[in-house]
Amino acid sequence: MWGLSFSILSHPSPNFTASLLVPAATLRSRTSLPLNFHPKPYTSDTPFSPEVVRAVDSLQYEFRAVDDLVARNSAKVLKAFQNVRLGSHHFGGSTGYGHDEAGGREALDNAFAEIVGAESAMVRSQFFSGTHAITCALFALLRPGDELLAVAGAPYDTLEEVIGKRDSQGLGSLKDFGVEYREVPLAEDGGLDWEELARALKPQTKCALIQRSCGYSWRRSLSVDEIGKAIRLIKMQNPDCLVMVDNCYGEFVETTEPPTVGADLIAGSLIKNPGGTLAPCGGYIAGRAKWVKAAAARLSAPGLGVDSGSTPGDIMRTFFQGLFLSPQMVGEAVKGMILIAEVMQSKGYKVQPLPRAPRHDTVQAVQLGSREVLLAFCEAVQRSSPVASFTKPVPGTTPGYASEVIFADGTFIDGSTSELSCDGPLREPFAVFCQGGSHWTQWGLVLGEVLKSL
Ligand SMILES: Cc1ncc(COP(=O)(O)O)c(C=O)c1O
Repeated sequence: MWGLSFSILSHPSPNFTASLLVPAATLRSRTSLPLNFHPKPYTSDTPFSPEVVRAVDSLQYEFRAVDDLVARNSAKVLKAFQNVRLGSHHFGGSTGYGHDEAGGREALDNAFAEIVGAESAMVRSQFFSGTHAITCALFALLRPGDELLAVAGAPYDTLEEVIGKRDSQGLGSLKDFGVEYREVPLAEDGGLDWEELARALKPQTKCALIQRSCGYSWRRSLSVDEIGKAIRLIKMQNPDCLVMVDNCYGEFVETTEPPTVGADLIAGSLIKNPGGTLAPCGGYIAGRAKWVKAAAARLSAPGLGVDSGSTPGDIMRTFFQGLFLSPQMVGEAVKGMILIAEVMQSKGYKVQPLPRAPRHDTVQAVQLGSREVLLAFCEAVQRSSPVASFTKPVPGTTPGYASEVIFADGTFIDGSTSELSCDGPLREPFAVFCQGGSHWTQWGLVLGEVLKSL
């Protein structure tokens, strides 16, 4: 009955906000309002399905913990913006070489570096995806004859052609340039295999790749503590082995980031977590200054450095504003993921992670068991989206992916996964990977539609 039985007081009082929600019947005798009065938002009149209502009721403690995380990370971002003395003059666009840029690029790089605890960072619209940023980082660190070691099992699908694990048709994979590749498979519990990792390095292992988030694997995502432990094990075997962390979907899910535990470089996408649903494109690389410079030379050209490249129009403002909003957007997404886990588990589906397990990324995987159910799930999500709700997602081949993949992304920014979206490869165990969402309540509504169609 939320909404129907409440009236708005016409005169603001010192207690105005609270009094906005006073039930109409009590306006005549305010003193009769019980001290322990709490409006009940989730009644039979709620827009949520009963399963979602039950889940939300049971997750109040978890949601409160997410609010705490949001506050801590928001404080960190605020401090960094204040330290770089962010002003509206930093929002101006630039053209051509970008030499006339008004200082926004440097302020953003410095703020970002401070936020992730790195020596240096470059945040650029010219990175057109996470894969692109990760590729620049890997090519910065590796040279012919070196070996790349993936320590958390198989890396994300789109990196297969970058590495040369899947034939890149001579287009210039790391393998084409004489870089060898090896993987340390995951342990049986889906985490890192610590014993194997402790003896995995060879003299030619120049770089270890750690993927923080699960990607399209049915595995646990890694905590920053676990990443730190892995880095210590790697550096104990060879202090000169560099560590690059694929940080996609991990930003702001904890209160620290991998550079604080020794990662030499991290890379990610701005249409995922750190763009805060506003950045229309772009990516970042952060870490030790020497290696950020080397990655800049891969993005542009050796000698051009980090101080060139134009950002036309209004993009700089969206980068700053998106980064400012990002801790909150990540918090909303994490609440959405916890809700999906709780609701889908209550319906008997296997979920990864479990609803009350610690979270290390903004992704929730649900095993749906068949192609048909995976398609039905994605169709329901697309139908419930604000953009292109009238379209039906169909599986197909996508550049960078070996398997057919289906994407439901009725998002304002093409392919944005900081906005509510889900996708999955059409292969066993037919898991859907849900991510993003600017408000958990949207997932609450979408789940109702999903349950109707399964
Ligand atoms: C863990 C991980 N790394 C990298 C990527 C690639 O990012 P992008 O699609 O922006 O290239 C993804 C994509 O979902 C991912 O999940």
